[in-house]
Amino acid sequence: MRVPNHIAIILDGNGRWAKAKGMPRGYGHIKGCANLETICDDIKDLGVKYLTVYAFSTENWKRSREEVEGLMKLFRSYLKKCMKSAEKNHMRVKVIGDPSAFAPDIQEKIRQLEEFSKDYDELYFQIALNYGSRDEIVRGVRKLAQDVADGKLVPDAIDESCFENYLDTAGVPDPDLMIRTSGELRLSNFLMWQLAYTEFYFTDVPWPDFHKEELIKAIEKYNERDRRYGGVKEE
Ligand code: FPP
Repeated sequence: MRVPNHIAIILDGNGRWAKAKGMPRGYGHIKGCANLETICDDIKDLGVKYLTVYAFSTENWKRSREEVEGLMKLFRSYLKKCMKSAEKNHMRVKVIGDPSAFAPDIQEKIRQLEEFSKDYDELYFQIALNYGSRDEIVRGVRKLAQDVADGKLVPDAIDESCFENYLDTAGVPDPDLMIRTSGELRLSNFLMWQLAYTEFYFTDVPWPDFHKEELIKAIEKYNERDRRYGGVKEE
């Protein structure tokens, strides 16, 4: 079985999973968070080199205060626990998105985790927090425009590979497989530039129930795909 080099996952369905069990949405996020820890280990065991997960979007602030506060609490404890996971899996962790909207202590935990894990190279784990693809592109364009204004870059030198260096994912290869759990068939502002030629896999299974067998099913489906990148396959 060909294992994708980079898997991206939209972690969806925590809230509905909890409601179906008669529990508050926050309970679903707690279970979703625990599942993320396990899936990280599974991804490493399978030999995947890059994992990117969509944990909090630039639009998720619209949720109730109670839910947002619950998620912030979860991020705090997760970012701390993630150091152990980074050490165990020799995993480098990078947060993509705009962290400036988070409380200073969360920003500090992100910084510490990135610093702590920066020399690990067996798995590269990107967590999208306060991430939106449009926001990432606009922030990138702003930095690029500044470089042009400062005379560090001439407009003629701007091509796709130059532009990619201004994205949060600079230096990371594009995902090969994008998985979205819980039945929604949309991208929700996730990695719109990076997913241009990625294979998509949608499943009705909600994130807290998405375990290793489901991951393997997704990889098996990926193996059935014929990736042509816009070209024509030789007969
Ligand atoms: C989607 O479920 C999930 C989220 C918006 C949050 C994802 C968060 C976690 C998995 C928690 C842990 C993550 C980290 C990095 C600590 P939903 O609330 O959209 O579910 P619904 O579609 O059923 O409402």
